[in-house]
Amino acid sequence: MYALVTGASAGIGMEIARYLGKLGYDLILTARSEEKLRHVRAGILKRYPGRTILVIPADLSQREECFRLYQEVCEQAGRENIEFVVNNAGRGVYGLFLETDLEQELNLIDLNVTAVHILSKLFLRDLVENGHGVLLNVGSCAGFMAGPTFSSYYASKSYVVRLTEAIHEELRRAKSPVKVSCLCPGPTATAFNDNSGVKVSGKQIPTPQAAREGVDGALAGKMIVIPGRKMPFVVGASRLMGEHLSTMINYSLQVKKAGK
Ligand SMILES: NC(=O)c1ccc[n+]([C@@H]2O[C@H](COP(=O)([O-])OP(=O)(O)OC[C@H]3O[C@@H](n4cnc5c(N)ncnc54)[C@H](OP(=O)(O)O)[C@@H]3O)[C@@H](O)[C@H]2O)c1
Repeated sequence: MYALVTGASAGIGMEIARYLGKLGYDLILTARSEEKLRHVRAGILKRYPGRTILVIPADLSQREECFRLYQEVCEQAGRENIEFVVNNAGRGVYGLFLETDLEQELNLIDLNVTAVHILSKLFLRDLVENGHGVLLNVGSCAGFMAGPTFSSYYASKSYVVRLTEAIHEELRRAKSPVKVSCLCPGPTATAFNDNSGVKVSGKQIPTPQAAREGVDGALAGKMIVIPGRKMPFVVGASRLMGEHLSTMINYSLQVKKAGK
């Protein structure tokens, strides 16, 4: 059975693909960079030679590319053979809302929100029809709060968290065997922050840990998975202190992250 991982060329997505390969899944890897995907594919095949690994490059910030990806996955793997879908690809845009580039933010919304929505809808219908499977959307702890100076990223992750929670509950009520989870990492050691123009000084959890906890949590049917020990407390504390105070504190924390 196949697992599809978006954003599989680097970071958390690459580690999720490696972990799913270890668990015995055949894989479909997607991201924009075909070269990096082929490198990831070669690494997994070296460790687990029996796997079938398809590479389908796509720019998921383009709506039509999301539909093309779905079509190609169905044609190459067969829709009845898709068992695990991971919507992981995402990006950030750092800066004050008045100063950030609108085109960059619209691209962020296309990738972090619209692509996750389209692919969740298309693949989940098939999983439910097949009567088994797992959908894992990668949100963020940012999805539980507002993020001044990183506003569109935090808001986009709030969409991912809320959408996934709602679908999880709909399927639970319907007694569906299909599992739907949201992986919500805190700071994780990938190129994400550099790519987003953010400087991170605090401790970050290792990428393989985020990947493993996310996949294991999804297989266990958890609605929300927050990897590591610290971030569940941070999210809980933010909820206890209420929206206003949490947003004020987040401003003070985020503004220090002005990086590149
Ligand atoms: N790192 C953190 O601290 C952290 C914390 C919480 C949540 N997250 C979330 O975790 C997910 C993965 O992030 P990461 O930290 O692993 O970041 P990353 O190392 O920058 O990886 C991002 C992945 O997304 C792909 N991607 C970017 N733009 C794309 C596009 N337009 N179409 C298709 N693929 C695209 C990239 O590949 P190409 O460049 O080849 O396309 C890459 O494979 C994101 O959703 C992020 O929001 C990260």
